Amino acid sequence: MGAATELELPQGKVIRIVGPARVEVVKGKLLIVGSKYPTGSSFVVHRLRSYSAKALEHTKLRLTLGGEAKVEEVNPSDEVVDAWLSIAEQLIPNCYSSPCRILVVGPPESGKTTMAAFLANYSRETGLRVAVIEGDVGQEDLLVPATVALAEVNKPILWLRELEPLSFRFVGCISPQYCFTESILAIKDLVDEAAARGFNVVIINTDGWVGSPSAIEHKLTLARWIKPTHIVTLSEELFEVFSRCFGNLCKVIRAPRPPAPRERSREERRELRAQAYRKYVGRGRVRNLKLSNLSILSSGALTGRSVSLDEVRRRFNLTDDVVKNLLYASKVLDTYYLIWRGDPAPLKDFNLGTGVRLLRAECLEGLLVGILDCGMKDVSVGVLVSVDFNTGNIGVQTPWEGEVCGLILGRVKLSESLEEVGGVRCSQ
Ligand SMILES: Nc1ncnc2c1ncn2[C@@H]1O[C@H](COP(=O)(O)OP(=O)(O)OP(=O)(O)O)[C@@H](O)[C@H]1O
Ligand SMILES: [Mg+2]
Repeated sequence: MGAATELELPQGKVIRIVGPARVEVVKGKLLIVGSKYPTGSSFVVHRLRSYSAKALEHTKLRLTLGGEAKVEEVNPSDEVVDAWLSIAEQLIPNCYSSPCRILVVGPPESGKTTMAAFLANYSRETGLRVAVIEGDVGQEDLLVPATVALAEVNKPILWLRELEPLSFRFVGCISPQYCFTESILAIKDLVDEAAARGFNVVIINTDGWVGSPSAIEHKLTLARWIKPTHIVTLSEELFEVFSRCFGNLCKVIRAPRPPAPRERSREERRELRAQAYRKYVGRGRVRNLKLSNLSILSSGALTGRSVSLDEVRRRFNLTDDVVKNLLYASKVLDTYYLIWRGDPAPLKDFNLGTGVRLLRAECLEGLLVGILDCGMKDVSVGVLVSVDFNTGNIGVQTPWEGEVCGLILGRVKLSESLEEVGGVRCSQ
C-alpha cells in the first residue's frame, strides 16, 4: 500500500472507495454499508470490492491506497447510499415487534451481498440480534463454496467474509441449477435454525441466477418455503415478478443497484473460491476412514450392492485386458456401476446396454464431500483424497477431528492445490 493521504468531507458528501484501501476516520462519522464509523475507527476495503460512503458530519479521513485503489467524490443523487438508508429506516423498525426474515434477490453484481450486509449492520446498530444466511453456493463467503451458512452479525462488516459461521449445510455444487432442490432445502433448514436461535432479523442473501424461467422458479420456490416478511429486489424485472407473486403475502421492496460496481471476472471468482477451499480444507489433515463404517448419502457406485468383478466380466462378456482396469462394481436396482481406472474407451467395443454407468476412479479423487456426525448434523467439509477398493479404506482431508458417520459426495472436484478442476468427464 502507498503512503497515507488525508481527505476532508463536508457533511452529506458521498465518496466511492475502490479497494484495496485502508480508511481511518480521524474525525467525524462515516456511513458505509449501513454502519456508522466514528472518530478513531477504521476499516479495510478488499481489492475486489468497492463501496459508497457518506459523511454524516464534517469528517476527516486518512486513506492508505494500494494497487488500483481509488477514492472519488460522487454526486449523492447518482449513488445508492441514501436510497438504501431510507429502505433500512422504513423496514428495520418493523422487526422489533415480530422477527423479520428478509430475502435479498437480484441479478449478478447488482449489490445483493452488499445490501444484505447493509441491512445487517443497520439492524445491529439499532440493537437487534441479527443473523445472515449466505445462500449463494457459488460464492459462499461465510464458509466454503458448495455450502450455505448462517452467521451472527455481531460487529460492523463490509463483507460477509469477515464473519464466523454458526452453522452450515453442505449442498455439493456451486451452481444452483445443478442442485436446485438441495440449495432450497439447505437455506430453508438454516432459516428454521435461525428462528430457533431467536434472532430478531434474519437476512437471506441469494445467488444471481435469475435470468431464465427455471432460475425464477428457483427463487420463487425458495421464497415460498422460507416465508419472508420482506423481499428486497435489486432489479425492475424481479420487483415486478415478486410483486405479482408475493405482493399480498409479504412486503416487496424495490432497491436501486450501485451504479459503478467493481465487477469480478470468472477467474477472480474462481480464485476467491480457491482461497476459501484452502483456508478451510487446507488446514486439515487426511483422516483414514473405513467405507464399511460410513453412510454415503449419494445414490451410485459407492452405495450399491457390491458385485464381483467376475460376475461383471461374465454378464458383459468382457475380456481380461479390459477387466484389469475395472476396480469395483456395484448394483442399484437393475443398474450396474462400474468404477474404472484410466480411459474407459475400450469398453465402448462391448455392448453394455443402458443399465450401466461408468465412473472413472480419478473422478472420485479430489471430490468435495460434506461430513455428517452420527446425529446427521453437517459438521464439516472435506476432500476425498483416496479410495482403496481392496481394503475399503477412504482418505478424507478435513479440519474436522470429531466423529464421522456419513459423507455426502459433492459435484465439485479439486486439484491437489485445492483449485476447482473443470472439464473432467466423469460419468458416461
Ligand atoms: N455503492 C457502491 N458503489 C460502487 N461499488 C459497489 C457499491 N456497492 C457495492 N459495490 C461493489 O459492487 C460489486 C457487486 O456487489 P455485490 O457483491 O454486493 O453484488 P452481488 O449482487 O452480491 O454480486 P454477485 O452476483 O457476485 O453475488 C462488489 O465489488 C461491491 O464491492
Ligand atoms: Mg453476492
